[in-house]
Amino acid sequence: MAFVRVLRQDEVKEGHPQLVTIDGTDVAVFRVGHEIFAIDDLCSHAEASLAEGDQRGYIIECPRHGGRFDIRTGKAKHFPAVSPVRTFATKVEDGEIFIDIESD
Ligand code: FES
Repeated sequence: MAFVRVLRQDEVKEGHPQLVTIDGTDVAVFRVGHEIFAIDDLCSHAEASLAEGDQRGYIIECPRHGGRFDIRTGKAKHFPAVSPVRTFATKVEDGEIFIDIESD
């Protein structure tokens, strides 16, 4: 697969992640300034949606146990999360967000 259009850029506000599904994969979409990031929505610790977490800049805190991830790299930054989550390539064209879920 290649890039898939998911949202308009103005539909994603900083601090308010959006959940989209691409080919059965749930993806959390984030905005920091004019940058757009996309990671696997499923927390690597247990069953929780990272799009429902608390975003502070480049860090998303899992709503279930408070694990934290860097949305730029997918790396776990705070216990109990220790394994990374997948990150996906994003691009913005004409105000539309595109994500490639095979870019991990
Ligand atoms: S489910 Fe996310 S930290 Fe436990």
